[in-house]
Parts: sequence; C-alpha cells; structure tokens
Amino acid sequence: MVLYPHEMLPDVDHDGRSLQNFAMSFRAHLASKVRPGTRAVYEKRVKPGFVRKFNREPADKGEVGKEMTQDPYYQFWSAMQRKSQEMMWDCVIEVIEPQIERLNDRAKQVRQAGSGVKGSLELSPDLEIPRYHTVADIHLQPGGFHTEVADDDVTAGAIYDNAVAIYANGALGPKNDLLGRTLAHFLKQQYPDREPGTILDMGCGIGNSTVAWAEAFPDAEVHGIDVGAPMLRYAHARAESLGVAAHFKQQNAEETSYPDQSFDLIVSHIVFHETSAKALPRILQECHRLLKPGGMMLHVDIPGAEGAFDAFMMEWETTNNNENFAGMFRETDLAATATRMGFAEGKARMESMPRLLEERQQTYSDRAINWPVLVGEK
Ligand SMILES: C[S@@+](CC[C@H](N)C(=O)[O-])C[C@H]1O[C@@H](n2cnc3c(N)ncnc32)[C@H](O)[C@@H]1O
Repeated sequence: MVLYPHEMLPDVDHDGRSLQNFAMSFRAHLASKVRPGTRAVYEKRVKPGFVRKFNREPADKGEVGKEMTQDPYYQFWSAMQRKSQEMMWDCVIEVIEPQIERLNDRAKQVRQAGSGVKGSLELSPDLEIPRYHTVADIHLQPGGFHTEVADDDVTAGAIYDNAVAIYANGALGPKNDLLGRTLAHFLKQQYPDREPGTILDMGCGIGNSTVAWAEAFPDAEVHGIDVGAPMLRYAHARAESLGVAAHFKQQNAEETSYPDQSFDLIVSHIVFHETSAKALPRILQECHRLLKPGGMMLHVDIPGAEGAFDAFMMEWETTNNNENFAGMFRETDLAATATRMGFAEGKARMESMPRLLEERQQTYSDRAINWPVLVGEK
C-alpha cells in the first residue's frame, strides 16, 4: 500500500515494504479465506451441537461464544487474527522508530514556517487524558493515541497513518480519507442545501477525515480536535504538507473550550465506539451546545450486528483487540441518547450511508454495505 505523498511519511526501504506487504496480504488472506470458514463451522458443527444439547438455537452472542471459543477452527482463526494485528503495528514501528527524530523535526519545521502556514495547532499539555485511553492500548497500538516518546513527538500519528492503511487493506484510499469523503458525499447527496461555514471534526486523529472535509467545503473554516498530542502534531504538519488549512486543538470532545454555538456542522468518524458509556452522552450534549441553531451533527461509526453469530464475531474486537467499549456501543440507542442529551424529539435519528464503490471493491466484508450515521439537527 503506497500512501499519497506528503512530508510526514517515513522513508520505507525494500525490507520495510516487504514486511508491510506481508502483513497486509496475511490480513487479506485471513479476511477472505479463513474468517468465512468460521460461519461454516458454526452452521455445520457448533450450532447443531448446541441444538442437540439444549433443544434450541443459541439465543445471543454469549451463548454462541461459549461454544465457538471451544472450536479448534475458531481458535486458529482468532490466534492468527490477533497475531496479524500485532504484526501490523510491529512492521510499521520497525520502519518508523529509526526515523522518529527526523519526523519530529519535520513537523516542527512546518510549525515554524510562519506566514507559510495556513492552519494552526493548539496543544493543552495539562489536558487530562480520559481513562478509556490510558487503561489499555486501543486496538493494540502500543502507547495508544496519546503517549509521547520524545519532545514534540509525532510518533503515534506516524504509526496510525501507516498502520491504518494496512488495517483497512488499502480500502481507505491513498490519503486514508475514505470515511471523511464518504460522509461529505452523503451530506451533499442527502442535504444538498447545507453549506457549512464552520465544521468541527471530533476525534480527528491524524486529520485524515478532517482534510477530506476541508477539500469538500473549501470555503469552510475547518477544526479538528483530539485528546492525543502526537496525533495532532502529525495531523497539522500533514495537512499543511497537503496544502490544506485546518485548525487542530487538543481537546476532550466531552467538554471543549469552544464557545456555545460555534459550528454549523459537527462530524466524527469511528470515534464513539472508542470512548465509554459515560463519555458518549457527554459528547452528544457537547455537540448540542456547540451547534448553531439549525446546525447539524453527523457521526459515522461501526455497523451493528445481524444475529447472534455476527454479534459474537464482532465481539472479537472487544475481547481480543482492546476495543473495550465496542460491544456496549453496538447495543446503545444513539438517537435516543442524543434526544436525552438535548436534541429535540424527532431531530436525532439513524440514517444509512452507502459505501462508495471503491470501498466495496476492496474489502472482504460479508456484512451489509451501508454505514450507520447518527444525524442530529439543532
Ligand atoms: C479510531 S481513531 C479515528 C481517527 C479519525 N477520526 C479517522 O477517521 O480515522 C479515534 C480517535 O478519536 C480520538 N478520541 C477518542 N476519544 C476522544 C475524546 N473524548 N475527545 C477527543 N478525541 C477523542 C482518539 O484519540 C483517536 O485519535
């Protein structure tokens, strides 16, 4: 997977590229050839065994899990999947580690370029990093999104940019921006009259989706917030290198320092499922506070499960990949939560966002082709 060129990318030599290509092919092989076998094993072996024992089918993911986790085929897939996730981080870190100083210097140069800089970066070293980030490394990224390994560090951002391309098997596109582009396309298709002048991207990470919004609405003032300083330093330098103006701030989406009614549009991409049961309603309340009257929020996140087997397989991310809140998130009624946190009755709802063709061609998902989006209007 070769990313769209920008100044924050590390140099990747032949050995590094071949390690990364192997990790990506290994994951693609597991997704396309091995994981589908778990469904066959369930239908042909595990479910009939359960029915023989209890005279009924498994009722939920817990009952499926009790039996499936004893099955050697499932155990093999699960062990390989976990290994592939660790391998993904390892093969990226192996390339980035010797270049950290250079990458950190490059980001600093961008910040010091003065009038040549279009956007901005504002860090808050005293910001308390939420416990849901410090307690475990989400999806096994060593150190998570916030850990700093040097002064003015961009390492977590550099790791994420390179690893997420492998994680998604390149489906996010060369700028890793597919989700931002798809959501902006969705807004233009479904709500063509909306021309947001101010946009906030919550949990912007490396700004991959933020840049997509700035490109989709070039006249808008675009902001991105995240709790992770290394992600934001990287995001800012990356956006500048791509010639895009965006304003990045280190803020907790649960309680930001922006004044009331600051934004026409608030978006997020795959963020909520990495927060917590306490944080999620607080973030929705904050969205309501930050939106201008008539403003809109759009939050795209992981799809729900269809049936007990599917729910168990999706739970793998929670049990084995430190996506600790993902299981509970899938069972949360987002529209009802948004209504409880301030959106008027009927003004918050779930909508379905079709995947762009390029994504459908590159993933091995056997699931529904639409992304769920929480839409809220103030
Ligand atoms: C999976 S990444 C997604 C990054 C990006 N939105 C994308 O489209 O790839 C989740 C990001 O949300 C950030 N995040 C999680 N909880 C947050 C919070 N309470 N406030 C701000 N950012 C948060 C994390 O630090 C991380 O960078």
